[in-house]
Amino acid sequence: MIDLHAHVLPLVDDGSNNLTDSLKMLIEAEAQGVTDIVLTPHRRRKFCKSKEELNKAFESFCLEKEKAGISINLYLGQEIYISNGYKKLFTNGEFLPLCDSNYFLIEFDFVEETDVSEVVYVLAKQGFVPVVAHFERYSYANIDMAREIKALGGLIQVNAQSLVGKGKFKFRKLTSKLFKEGLVDIVASDIHCGRVNCMKKAYTFVSKKYGKQIAEDVFKLNAKKIIEG
Ligand SMILES: [Fe+2]
Repeated sequence: MIDLHAHVLPLVDDGSNNLTDSLKMLIEAEAQGVTDIVLTPHRRRKFCKSKEELNKAFESFCLEKEKAGISINLYLGQEIYISNGYKKLFTNGEFLPLCDSNYFLIEFDFVEETDVSEVVYVLAKQGFVPVVAHFERYSYANIDMAREIKALGGLIQVNAQSLVGKGKFKFRKLTSKLFKEGLVDIVASDIHCGRVNCMKKAYTFVSKKYGKQIAEDVFKLNAKKIIEG
């Protein structure tokens, strides 16, 4: 599997406070059957590292990973919180895309209703492909909104936890609806230190419920296409 959304890079956000925990998270991911991870630290008010700082942290983490003999492949991206002024920041090239591609992982406030479709429209018009992070978790998310996002050229990511974890019933219900309509592009872990990585369980669940090809698409092939640009 390829994990397109993970907070594993140490000391850049609330994902991991030290190198040891980060390396443990990689080993755990490998045990789950993950071969490639895109590291996507938060970019929001509290966590505001520059692109240069993130690139530096990424290079040094890759070296530590090699030293530890972990063979998982790493890439860099960012999970960008959309707030006022986002258009200008995108135009100025302030954000890191996923693996140097044209795809940007974006997130929204969980509670305060945001016009997600409008943001997708604006970014798509600028030539970017927005990937909406953990769509099922926004309190105002619904199936019509998901249809609209896809029609406007955006992609939908859901968390593995929302398929098989102990998360809220509402998350599971919406995730299930999204799968039934074929609206899910990516399942990812959104792993933080202290959370359970359930990628393997989620893959098996999707494979049994929706078929092997769908599982391959949402856990691997679609992410591979993004990594390859
Ligand atoms: Fe995240």
